[in-house]
Amino acid sequence: MGKASKIGLSIPLIDERDTAAVTEALQANWITAGGPFVGTFEQHLRDCLNTKSEVVALNTGTAALHLSLLLADVKPGDFVICQTMSYVATANPIAYLNAIPVFVDSEAETFNLNPDALREAIQFCLSQNKKPAAIFTVHSYGIPCKLDEIAAIARQYEIPLIEDAAEALGSTYKGQACGTFGDFGILSFNGNKIITTGGGGALICKDATKAKQARHLASQAKIGQEGFDHDSIGYNYAMPGLNAALGISQLKSLEARISAKRNLHGLYTEIFENLPDVELVNETTDTFANYWLSVLRFTNPASRFTPAGLMQHFKDAGIESRQPWKPLHLQGIYEQQHYFGDKAAETLWRNGLCLPSGCGLTKTELKHIRETLIAYFST
Ligand SMILES: Cc1ncc(COP(=O)(O)O)c(C=O)c1O
Repeated sequence: MGKASKIGLSIPLIDERDTAAVTEALQANWITAGGPFVGTFEQHLRDCLNTKSEVVALNTGTAALHLSLLLADVKPGDFVICQTMSYVATANPIAYLNAIPVFVDSEAETFNLNPDALREAIQFCLSQNKKPAAIFTVHSYGIPCKLDEIAAIARQYEIPLIEDAAEALGSTYKGQACGTFGDFGILSFNGNKIITTGGGGALICKDATKAKQARHLASQAKIGQEGFDHDSIGYNYAMPGLNAALGISQLKSLEARISAKRNLHGLYTEIFENLPDVELVNETTDTFANYWLSVLRFTNPASRFTPAGLMQHFKDAGIESRQPWKPLHLQGIYEQQHYFGDKAAETLWRNGLCLPSGCGLTKTELKHIRETLIAYFST
């Protein structure tokens, strides 16, 4: 394979079935919100998650996060606990509501919310006479977080738990789908996710009344079919039919996509198991990761092999890789906020690399990735 070729990190995979599904929605003129495709997509998502919870299709995962906080009754000035190892979209809805994020570090196994640091953060909030109004826990890169411990803490203090499962469709914890444990869960279907609707998201609600409120708020809080009456400040967050039609079609290949990503993780495991100073971030016992992105950690700062070195080597070979999320408490916009932990997330950011993780890679591309990796670590 020549240098001109390009292997993306996790590019959208669109096939003829998807094109036909979108064409059908266009021909039926069900392109905007409402119509049969949205309801069908929601039902297929519920089946796929194997849940009795309600699923509300929305136009982004960020909208789902925002609505989850509104439905958890978060008010200006409230503390909201937020995993620091995440994409900025997890924290921004806290700021939309003028609430105060309290960032919590990762544990060093799944690099998701650290239960000990979570307890510390809650104690801090209580010492300020303010119980946190919600907890955002994330299944980063599709790897399930320590749900038993985290859910037990949320229950103990009676704080609503919101799972950001944007990257984790198809991942499970003790056989149950990620996103269905908390009071709310959210999914994203943006272009680089395991399935895409172009742009899109979903809110998973345990409580059917809250789901009804979510639908209401997502459609400008309009009341009745006629006229223009609105009973509160609403949002234009509903998923259009065109996107839902694509989602229905994309969901059909979810299992195949998960298998492809897990096989790729298996290939990486085989390459790295005998190499010193590098480790993959792996699923833990009793969990099943969709391995949306496979993440490599460089464990020896003195090694001549580095994330930046490998990233450049990949780039020269026409392969995309990416640094893990910059922890949110280190972002200029959030650096003044509270943070509890011991730099585990920062370590992943500094010493990690997201490896190419597309689910549509050809045998030739897989061979190219393998040879490029082996060449780097043989220098
Ligand atoms: C962890 C996480 N949370 C939230 C989001 C936001 O989703 P969206 O881009 O659909 O708004 C994303 C992805 O973009 C994400 O990766």
